[in-house]
This record gives sequence, structure tokens and C-alpha cells, in this order.
Amino acid sequence: MESSLPGLEAILLVGGQGTRLRPLTLGTPKPLLPTAGVPFLAHQLARARSFGVRRIVFATSYKASMFEPVFGDGAAFGLSLEYITETTPLGTGGAIRNAAEALTSGPDDPVLILNGDILSGHDIGEQVSLHRAREAAVTLHLTEVDDPTRFGCVPTDESGRVTAFLEKTPNPVTNRINAGCYVFTRSVIDSIPRGEVVSVERETFPGLIESGELVLGYATRTYWLDVGTPAAFVRGSRDLVLGRLASPALPGPTGEYLALDGARVSPEAKVQGGTAVGARCVVEAGASVVGSVLSDDCVIEAGASVIDSVVGQGARVCAGTVVRDAVIGDGAIVGPGNELQNGVRIWPGVELPERALRYSSDV
Ligand code: GDD
Ligand code: MG
Repeated sequence: MESSLPGLEAILLVGGQGTRLRPLTLGTPKPLLPTAGVPFLAHQLARARSFGVRRIVFATSYKASMFEPVFGDGAAFGLSLEYITETTPLGTGGAIRNAAEALTSGPDDPVLILNGDILSGHDIGEQVSLHRAREAAVTLHLTEVDDPTRFGCVPTDESGRVTAFLEKTPNPVTNRINAGCYVFTRSVIDSIPRGEVVSVERETFPGLIESGELVLGYATRTYWLDVGTPAAFVRGSRDLVLGRLASPALPGPTGEYLALDGARVSPEAKVQGGTAVGARCVVEAGASVVGSVLSDDCVIEAGASVIDSVVGQGARVCAGTVVRDAVIGDGAIVGPGNELQNGVRIWPGVELPERALRYSSDV
């Protein structure tokens, strides 16, 4: 049972540049990329709402003005939303301190902080209950990954107390990592210096641990994914469409694919593996699309194959082309008979001539 938290406030960190997702993030910030048919954040907002969060402050920086037109005052989500923008990026800690100006919580109240690029199935209510019961300064959601070097490595003692915070260390001491969802006691946020560039990962957490404050770990093995790379982004969308992570924001039933309004998928096309088909997309007869994200208005021509890839808005994949583990930018045209693989990225608007790229070992 998911516990509920009436009145809980949250800060959503959405100011990053999303460089690893270029060219997708050249025109759209990472948290707004279409994911299983809706802007990525819709999944996080709906999930937070399901645990009783009622007010969320967006900490924006990169492409800050694009958020409010999409989510407005939050009424559509049953939330009240505020937008606070940093004139220059203040880092994760500086952003939290800056956005806290818009909180109404008192000094002893818990405040939820969310990285804006995470899909997580954990019970936020349980995390907050643990924070309250142990009277912690901060409670970090922790998960386990195979390669902790890309994350914050977080060892704990047997009582769950965090003993160190090692951001992106080449020598991780455990596979347990910071999952990017924190409960802060409000007064601890107010102790972060105001108007300065601060990293919670490199400064605030190590500082709190050093000074003997209780920083607690809440470890789970529930669904968890950081969608910061193209491969992870595609996986996240696919998992939502297939129902591997339940989302109240999914705009249709779970299944092999999800098609938005006006999409035309030929009955002779094969579309499967949790593919999201954007509004007004065309998938022609004999095309095969597996586990991919097709943005609005794109065209997959007869006999083309698109596997584990993102196809940008209005892009066209021509007849007989293979696109695997690749990103096609908005409006790009991949001419007939190309073979794109292994993380290849085609920049927006590029027109790739017929048979310009072939990677297969048999040619
Ligand atoms: N407002 C604002 N200002 N937001 C920012 C800024 C900033 O200056 N810098 C980063 N953010 C936001 C990003 O938009 C993202 O939502 C979040 O802060 C984390 O930044 P990422 O760039 O995604 O960091 P990461 O994925 O390399 O590492 C972080 O997340 C991992 C879990 O996915 C760290 O918190 C790691 O410790 C953690 O393991
Ligand atoms: Mg990230």
C-alpha cells in the first residue's frame, strides 16, 4: 500500500542542460522530452501526486521559459506549481536553496527534493515516514546499480546512517548509489548558503556527514532509472508503455505500443516492444519498429526498421533503412538504404543521402 502525505511540498530540479541527450535537448530541455506519449515530467508529477504531494516548486535554469506553458499552475495534475529561475545555474544545492524561497513549510517540516530525470517505483511515503521517525537531517533514497562510477556512491552502516558520499568516484566502495530523491528537514535547506553555486553531492552531503548530522539511507530494489543517456531514455519510455513501471500519466493502456491521436500505423507494419508512436506519425506497410520513441509527425517508410532508437519530431526514415540504437534529430531525413547503429546521432534537419552510411559487417 502506498502511504499518503497530505500537504507535503517538493522541489523539482530541472535546470540541467541534458548534454548527454543532445541533439534531443538542443530545442527541448530533458524533462520535457516526450516519454511514453507525454512530457517526461508528467510521470514524476503524477507519481508525486499519488503520494500526497500537493505543491511543487520547479527549480529551472536551462530553457527555463519552456516549463510553465506545458504545466501551467498544475491544476490538471491536482497540484499547485511554482517556477523559480536561476539567472545563472547555481548547481543542485544552490538551486534547492534558491527555490526554497517559495516554500511555505516550517523549519521542522520535511521537504521532498526530486532530480528531474528519474523514473522510480519506490514508496515516497515510506521514505518520509522513516525520515520523520529517525528525526534525520536528510534521508536519501538509495538503489543498486552495476556501474556506480557514474553516480553518487553512498556507503551506510548497519543502522542505515550514511557514512560517506562519494560523487562519481572511480573507486566505488559499494554498488549502492544516490537515487536522486531526498527528504530534507526544511531548516537544513536554509543552512545552504544563498545565491552561491553549491553542489549537494560534493558539498552539502559530505559537510553534513562530517559535522555528525544524521544523513540516512532509504534503500530499495524497486524499479529505478536515470534517463540521462539516449539508451536509458529509450528504455524508460519502453518500460512505461509495457507497464514495467506503473504511471498514472500514461495516456492509454499499457501494451506492445502506444499511439497518440492522429497516428497512422499500417496493419502490415510491425510495431512492438513498448514503442511510443507520437501524434500524426505515419508507419507504413512492412516497416518494423521495436522498443523506440517516435516523436510527433515523423514518418517511417515501407520496409524500414527502427530498433531501440529515438526519432525526432517531423523526421523521416526512408524505405529500407535500418536505425538501431540511434538518435535521429527533429526534421532530419535519413535517405533510403542507410544503416545507422551503435549510438549514432543525426543532427536536426540533416538530410542523409541514399546509402551514405552502412555499418553492417556484411557490406
Ligand atoms: N536548477 C538547477 N540548477 N538544476 C540543476 C542544476 C543547476 O545548476 N544542475 C543540475 N540540475 C538538475 C538536473 O536538471 C537534474 O534534474 C538533477 O539536477 C541532477 O543533475 P544530473 O546532471 O542529471 O546529474 P547526474 O545524473 O550526473 O547525477 C545526479 O543524479 C544521480 C542519480 O541519477 C547526482 O545526484 C548523483 O549523485 C546521482 O547518483
Ligand atoms: Mg541525471
